[in-house]
Amino acid sequence: MDIGTQMPASAYFAAIYRFGFVAMFDHLPILPPDSILGLAAACRADTNPDKVDLTIGIYMDETGACPVFQAVKDAQRAMIDEEVTKAYIAPQGDDGFLTGMMGLVLGQERFQTRAAEVAAVQAPGGCGAVRLGAEVLKAAAPAGKVWVSRPTWPVHVPLITSTGLELSEYRYYEPATHGVDFDGMVADLQQAKQGDIVLLHGCCHNPSGADLSVDQWDVVAEMAVTQGFTPMVDLAYQGFGEGLDVDVYGLRTLVDKTPEVVIAASLSKNMGLYRERTGIAIFTGPDARTAEATASQAKAAARRIYSMPPAHGALIAAKILADQTLRQSWANELEQMCERINSLRVDFRDRLESTTGRDFGFIAREKGMFSFLGLTEEQALAVREDRSLYMLNSSRINIASLNQQNMDQVVEAVASVL
Ligand SMILES: Cc1ncc(COP(=O)(O)O)c(C=O)c1O
Repeated sequence: MDIGTQMPASAYFAAIYRFGFVAMFDHLPILPPDSILGLAAACRADTNPDKVDLTIGIYMDETGACPVFQAVKDAQRAMIDEEVTKAYIAPQGDDGFLTGMMGLVLGQERFQTRAAEVAAVQAPGGCGAVRLGAEVLKAAAPAGKVWVSRPTWPVHVPLITSTGLELSEYRYYEPATHGVDFDGMVADLQQAKQGDIVLLHGCCHNPSGADLSVDQWDVVAEMAVTQGFTPMVDLAYQGFGEGLDVDVYGLRTLVDKTPEVVIAASLSKNMGLYRERTGIAIFTGPDARTAEATASQAKAAARRIYSMPPAHGALIAAKILADQTLRQSWANELEQMCERINSLRVDFRDRLESTTGRDFGFIAREKGMFSFLGLTEEQALAVREDRSLYMLNSSRINIASLNQQNMDQVVEAVASVL
């Protein structure tokens, strides 16, 4: 037999000696770790006490911890007393969660007016929602192309292509200007046609932090109507840019102006429910029949992939969104996080500019957790090796991992390679 490159000869002979044949896992290739999670693991293993991890996209507070929202703690405590069963929840998810989320994402008034034309299915996190959305799109337009921004969040690629849909890129982030190349984006999207899907980041673009302006969202909405493509909005950071309502201007414009929109929303970041896997796929369409069709397709996709939705996070969110006191407490805490990120951006810009004498104004203009510092891959590797400062090879950092303890050290490390 062919031993192949993955199986050392010693393992081959050991398997033959022990069982008389080579079993199938013996040939199974070992995959490299996920590019982002692998770096976080490398940082954990780094013994330098001054190491700084700016890789992973979770909100960190001033003490370097990822906090549990007070509203989540309170809702959870109440749930423990109230819970009477662990039976499956409905395949489409918890009703309170679905209505609470549709109100949050679409805006209460719009949701009420369009309720009959909107369908929603609970999903395991934003990733689950992207996958369910893509499954429905694949069923509706099997030959459709999904247009993603260059660059986009790398996990979009496997989530979408695993349905069999093909990807195309549109120009988005321009490193030279540290902003959106909107002319390039429009020129590329002019090729998107009916049956194609254009994936947009609702706010706080990951990985760049560069968002579309209000006028630019309006142009994209018009293009969707004129050309007939279907917008899909990935909303993983509502409330982290400028506020819960401001951050969804673009999404709501698309919902108002275009015949159909697919939304994949996550509560991992903005409610801190990372590990509870709490997300929702929302489909807006022209009528009740299309709403039923999209929901049925999403439920069938969920059934064949993971069967039933997880309950815990959704029940917490349902409680918070329905209870005025909890909701207010959650919204206040989220607003403080958003303000902290925005003031870190200003502080970081100022310190970088005064240390290096270069223009880092883009850092304060961007939104959400992420920014490309504009280092080359060699520079990103050098700060990792020499200073234990961990950022992605593309120099994407998580601004929310900065704090008063580590900021000067990060600034010095960056300055040392410029
Ligand atoms: C752009 C984007 N979409 C979706 C998600 C989904 O996250 P989750 O599946 O953890 O809810 C993330 C998380 O990092 C993200 O950055």
